[in-house]
Amino acid sequence: MRIDGDRLLADLRELAGFGRCGTGVHRPFLSQPDREARDWLVRKMCDAGLDARIDGIGNVFGQSRGVARALLIGSHTDTVPRGGWLDGALGVIYGLEIARARCESGEAGPLGVDVISFADEESAYLAMAGSRAFCGCLSDAEIEAARHEGSRSLREALVEAGYAGRPLVRLAPDRHVAYLEAHIEQGPRLEAEGRRVGVVTGIVGIRRIRVTFSGRADHAGTTPMHLRRDAGGALVEFCHELRPRLEETRSPEGVWNLGQVAFDPGVGNVVPGSAEVLIEYRDQSVERLDRMEAEIQAAVAAADGRGGIKAEATQPLGLTPTTLDRNLAGLIAAAARGRGEEPLLMPSGAGHDAMVLSSRLPAAMLFVPSIGGRSHDVAEDSAEVDIVLGAQVMADAVRVFLDGKLRGKPGGGEFCVPVAESPADS
Ligand code: HGY
Ligand code: MN
Ligand code: MN
Repeated sequence: MRIDGDRLLADLRELAGFGRCGTGVHRPFLSQPDREARDWLVRKMCDAGLDARIDGIGNVFGQSRGVARALLIGSHTDTVPRGGWLDGALGVIYGLEIARARCESGEAGPLGVDVISFADEESAYLAMAGSRAFCGCLSDAEIEAARHEGSRSLREALVEAGYAGRPLVRLAPDRHVAYLEAHIEQGPRLEAEGRRVGVVTGIVGIRRIRVTFSGRADHAGTTPMHLRRDAGGALVEFCHELRPRLEETRSPEGVWNLGQVAFDPGVGNVVPGSAEVLIEYRDQSVERLDRMEAEIQAAVAAADGRGGIKAEATQPLGLTPTTLDRNLAGLIAAAARGRGEEPLLMPSGAGHDAMVLSSRLPAAMLFVPSIGGRSHDVAEDSAEVDIVLGAQVMADAVRVFLDGKLRGKPGGGEFCVPVAESPADS
């Protein structure tokens, strides 16, 4: 099984053409470029010898022919607004290239390679909607309630895309034996430590709290200051108080972000009648997440009723910290060593579809260095040689897996990986 580095890079560059935005990509889930990219991916998968389709939530799934069981490789092709060209795309195109190389090799074994691009990993409507639907842990109620920026509904957008009503592709426990996802690191550690391959040990838990302030809209010129019930002012005061609270509470690894603020009606001459802020916070430990949550709730309680403003909190997202499969991680680490690279074993501060998949399948992730640690911006980039090396490492690991060199029952929790054994060059 031989991967073609030039072809892999050409596919990544072609995919980056959908929604190109300077040096990056603007391809939010279900935007026109996102839908065009999904159609492109279906064609690419078919050309690679897979049976490909887009399902009812927008997942693009390419299934290996002639096998009853398969390793699943994937990630996502949607991006954050004005994001980078590799976040998500890398892992999907690795899957495509590895599946294509497997078909070209003519080697037939009992295990195939299925490839997937999950819908809405970046939460334009509903965080990780695709991987959650695939794993059967997304309710109809969540789909019905999901909206893009509070207005356009997910259901409407799925109808317009022509995806609504199509059958969902589901994880098939009899078929899918494990999940592998490659991704750019999106942080500075690999570069700082001079490593070219990262192997992910676990993924942070991610929670979000939306705090809504309800006051009263009034004329911003004629209403005396002391008579106002200014929801915007209450929000600003709340955010100001929140910073020292969270800075004292968080662990050194814990992070938090105020990523979205809205005032209603949001014009200069009306005192904001309502306002909301979205707080996201992440940590590797549930207990530390709980402590941050308690601090946010205490700040909400302190703000509630002050100045005649009601403050209420809802929690739109709660993803638990995840530990990835150690033996599959060992397989990737061994493959990296086989290519002369000592990998860095590291946790991920970014969320990934693997955190959803890992609740159902043994899952592992490989990281490729990000130049300057930049991501979620058009500046995101990785060296071509690192991109190709990562794909070779992943392909080596896949080959060992497909060759059945793992002892134990796939999915049975007893993967036994030849950590010391280097896969031979392919
Ligand atoms: O938000 C995240 O960590 C991921 O990039 N979706
Ligand atoms: Mn991302
Ligand atoms: Mn991503």
